[in-house]
Amino acid sequence: MADSLQQLLADLEREAGADTAAAFGELVAAYLAGTRTGDGRVSTAFTPAELAARFAEPLPELGRPLSDVLDRLRNGVLPDCNRLTHPRSMGHQVSAPLPVAVWTEALTAALNQSGAVWEMSPVGTIVETQVVRWMCALAGYGAEAGGTFTSGGTEATFAGLLAARQAARPDAWRTGVGADPPVVVCGEHAHYGVARAVGELGIGSEHAVIVPSRDYRMNVEALTGTLDVLRAAGRQVMAVVATAGTTPTGSFDDLEAIGRLCDARGLWLHVDGAHGASALLSPRHRDRLRGIHRANSIAWDPHKMMLMPLTASVVLVKHERELEAAFSQQAPYLFHGGTGERSWDQGLRSFTCSRRIDALKVWVAIQRYGASGLGALYDHLCSTARTLHAAILNRPVFQALHEPESNILCFRFVGDGTVPGDRLDALNLELRTTYNREGDGWITSTVLGGRRVLRVTLMNPRTTPGDLDRVLDGLEAIGGRLIRAR
Ligand SMILES: Cc1ncc(COP(=O)(O)O)c(C=O)c1O
Repeated sequence: MADSLQQLLADLEREAGADTAAAFGELVAAYLAGTRTGDGRVSTAFTPAELAARFAEPLPELGRPLSDVLDRLRNGVLPDCNRLTHPRSMGHQVSAPLPVAVWTEALTAALNQSGAVWEMSPVGTIVETQVVRWMCALAGYGAEAGGTFTSGGTEATFAGLLAARQAARPDAWRTGVGADPPVVVCGEHAHYGVARAVGELGIGSEHAVIVPSRDYRMNVEALTGTLDVLRAAGRQVMAVVATAGTTPTGSFDDLEAIGRLCDARGLWLHVDGAHGASALLSPRHRDRLRGIHRANSIAWDPHKMMLMPLTASVVLVKHERELEAAFSQQAPYLFHGGTGERSWDQGLRSFTCSRRIDALKVWVAIQRYGASGLGALYDHLCSTARTLHAAILNRPVFQALHEPESNILCFRFVGDGTVPGDRLDALNLELRTTYNREGDGWITSTVLGGRRVLRVTLMNPRTTPGDLDRVLDGLEAIGGRLIRAR
C-alpha cells in the first residue's frame, strides 16, 4: 500500500530539516576527504554492462527509508563515479570543483529560481547580470557589453555565432540563409562545437572553412590568405572563430593579430575562450589573451578553469543588443518589455527558457576567494603542467610534444626506441586504456598531427609533483610491459 499523503507530507517537512542536510553533507564531505590522500582508484573497474546490471530493477513502487537511499548512494553510486577530486585524476577539462561552489549548489536548487525572467528570479537575474558585467570588464569590454549564462561552451559559441548570423544576415531568422550561405572561418584545432553550431544555424557544416595551425595556433598568414580567397570568390564571411585555450593542447591563438585583421575587414570575431578565458584572472597569464577586447563575442566556461561544478558557462558580447537581436522573438506571456528601458529578463538573450542560476556559485566563489584567488589557482594548475613537462623531458621513454601554455599537455610514450614508428599509435592507445583500467590514475589521449598521443589536463589543485611522478612511473611501467608482451 502506498504511503499515505499525510505521511508523505510529513516526510517532506522532516527532510527539509538540518538532520537530512547533515546526512547529505556528510556524504559529500566524506567523498571530498576520501579523495584527498590519493588512495583508491580514480575511476571504476566495472564495464558499462556491469554497472547497468547494478541499477537494473523494476520501477520502485514504494519509497524506501532515507537511510537506505543514502546507503545506496554511498555504496552503489559513489565508489564507481570518476573521482575528479583524486589528485591523479588528470583526464578531461572537468574540474575538481571548489568546495564553496559545491555547497552553493544545494542553495541554488533549494531556491529554484528560474533565470529567464526577472519576475521568476528577482535576485538571481541581478546576480547573473553582475557576474556577466565583471567578466565583460575583465575582457576589456565597455558599458554596452552584456551576455548570459549558458549550459556550456558549446551553447555559448552557438549563441555567439547566432548573433554573428543576425549581424550578417538580418533576415535569416525569418527567411533562413538561402542557397548562398555565409561561411565561418576557424582554426584546425577549433572545438567541434564550432562546426556543430554552423550546422545547427542552417549554414551547412561544409561552409565552415578550416585554417591550418602553426605550433598548434591558428596560422595568421594562412587566415589572411583564406580571407583573401573567400573575398575574391565573393563569399560572405559571417565570423572568424579564434580559440583561446584549444582543446588538444591548451594553446592560445594570437587574438591581437586576428582581432586587428577582423577589425580591418569588418568581420565578426568570436573567441572560443571556453577553456582559457579564465586566464584573464591571472596577472601572469592574462597577456595570452591580448586583443580579446576586439572580439564581438566570447565563450567562457567558469566550469573549466574557474573550477566551478558543472554547469557554469557564459557568452559575452561587445554589444548586448546584438545578442538580443539574435533571439528576435516575442513571448508576451513571459517578456513584458517595451518600456524602452534595458530589460533584466535574461531569456531575451538566451537559448534556454527555464534554467538554474548558475551565476550564484560563481558569485559566491568570487566573494570568497576574490579574482586574485581564482587567478592564483589558474596559475597553480598551469605551473603543475610545467612541472610535468619538465619531468617528461627528463625521461627518455617519453617525448614532449609542446610547451604547455596552460594546464593541458600532450606527450607520447616512445619506450626504449625499439618500437617501430607505425606501432606507436596503437601502443599509446593501449597504454592509456590499460593505465586507466588499472585505476591508479586517469588520463586521456588524442590525435595530434596524425599521431596518437597521451594527454593530461590538470584541473585539480590537489595534484602534487609526487602525483605527477607517480603517473609517469605508472605509464612507464605499463608501457614497458606492453612492449615486452608484443
Ligand atoms: C575550446 C573549447 N570550446 C568549447 C568546449 C565545450 O565546452 P562545453 O563542454 O562546456 O560545452 C570545450 C570543451 O572541451 C573546449 O575545450
